[in-house]
Amino acid sequence: MTELWQQLAAHRAATAARPITALFDADPQRARRCAVAADGLWLDWSKTAIDARALGLLLALAAGVSARREAMFSGERINETEGRAALHVALRALDGPIEVDGSDVLPGVHATLDRMRDFARAVRAGRIAGQGGRYTDVVNIGIGGSDLGPAMASLALAPWADGPRLHFLSNVDGADATDTLRGLDPETTLVIVASKTFTTVETMTNADTVRRWMAASVARPELQFAAVSTALARTADFGIDRRAVFGFEDWVGGRFSVWGPVGLSLMLGIGPDRFDEFLAGGRAMDAHFRAAPLAENLAVMLALVGIWHHQICGYPTRAVLPYAQRLRRLPAYLQQLEMESNGKGVTMDGQALARPSGPIVWGEPGTNGQHAFFQLLHQGSAVVPCEFIVAARGEEPGLDHHQRLLIANCLAQSGALLRGRSMEEAREIVAAMGLTGPEAECQAAHRVFPGNRPSTTLLIPALTPYTLGQLVALYEHRVFVEGAILGINSFDQWGVELGKELAGEVLPLLEGGEGGGQDGSTRALVAELRRMRGE
Ligand code: F6P
Repeated sequence: MTELWQQLAAHRAATAARPITALFDADPQRARRCAVAADGLWLDWSKTAIDARALGLLLALAAGVSARREAMFSGERINETEGRAALHVALRALDGPIEVDGSDVLPGVHATLDRMRDFARAVRAGRIAGQGGRYTDVVNIGIGGSDLGPAMASLALAPWADGPRLHFLSNVDGADATDTLRGLDPETTLVIVASKTFTTVETMTNADTVRRWMAASVARPELQFAAVSTALARTADFGIDRRAVFGFEDWVGGRFSVWGPVGLSLMLGIGPDRFDEFLAGGRAMDAHFRAAPLAENLAVMLALVGIWHHQICGYPTRAVLPYAQRLRRLPAYLQQLEMESNGKGVTMDGQALARPSGPIVWGEPGTNGQHAFFQLLHQGSAVVPCEFIVAARGEEPGLDHHQRLLIANCLAQSGALLRGRSMEEAREIVAAMGLTGPEAECQAAHRVFPGNRPSTTLLIPALTPYTLGQLVALYEHRVFVEGAILGINSFDQWGVELGKELAGEVLPLLEGGEGGGQDGSTRALVAELRRMRGE
């Protein structure tokens, strides 16, 4: 392994000066050769500096992934630090068995899905209703993996929303509760408290606040609450009727949980049939990931391009740029999925990572991003590998010209990043403007684009429940492959613990009591805040 990493680094050093366009010049078939097609999706990774030798070395790096992939699919406890399996794939599987400790988990998964479908149908039909009649609104209270998945997916699948309106309350900032509840009728609002642990302070604080809000107008607010959790005793303590509680097991990580009960709000919004299509898309991606050879495997190739850019080329971030307004929360969703999974400092056996962990992931939908941060992508000193996503078809009748413009912009941006503009070309432009001499040189310099900036482009036929399922599962598997190659545990998240502990120590200090051993800066900030608060 170490040798492969060294060979990759040496190969990169030897070829760093060669422009990506030279690879196209040398191989007219590059665009087709450097693409992966699967189940209607098309991933083009040709606009990267990966050549045949780099590809060979990267594929060799991935050789060990198959064994770990099978360990995941077969329910082994691959999340070693927590002693758990990582079986989100079971949430969308039809056929088993998939066993954890010798017992098949699928009957339980399917029974819960059936209960969710029955509940969703009853709510949507008005057979389960609030004190004021049929539910008009659903508030999902949750954070992180108990929020981002359904929140992202409900925006993405807006054309299929034919149930109650969905709202997502996550932040402990009281502004979130205030703004979410504004305009809602407590008598026709269903509340879902989604928390794997049912202890997360933001979620439990918001749940208490919303229960008080509802109690002001509803005699028995607990009857308008449902819960999604692995901690069934705690949901009972909260007073939620067990018929409205949907459990899942500890082998589903929070950021991988949208496929099961955490997706209940989504199912209420789009209906069980559309939710099943979402599951089918995820399942199709699982089948592809499990069967396709490494070089023809979407998740593997996306991961290898990621490894090449971050661990080999040293580009610190990657931008996710969906040219789809309804995917506007996808970057936030991927930030948790990728950075909570692969932002680790040690390998599985506790040794310091010999190379960088996963990169910083960020992004915004196009074309909006073009009018914000693309300036830096084109001319800034940092090279940011970009991941473009665009659909061939839009869902808007009569607005196909919008979709063509969207696609044209997406392709133009990746083309511009690749090609750039030389000083000679810039000089021609300013000469045509009538400029001469030093002024022309100066103006031309501002119009130079270095180019040679890498990107991938993922084409989807249209944004539907099925293709969204494919997309989400694709990114899950990409994260898995990157983690497996780096030798890290992608399924724990110890890095979120310290801040949570310290919040518990700062609160008493803020309330005028004694805190723990905070640093001088924190104590001074607390004192200043207390002064500003008039305390
Ligand atoms: O931020 C840490 C984390 O544990 C995430 O992994 C998780 O998605 C989120 O908090 C919410 O946790 P829970 O579902 O237990 O409330």
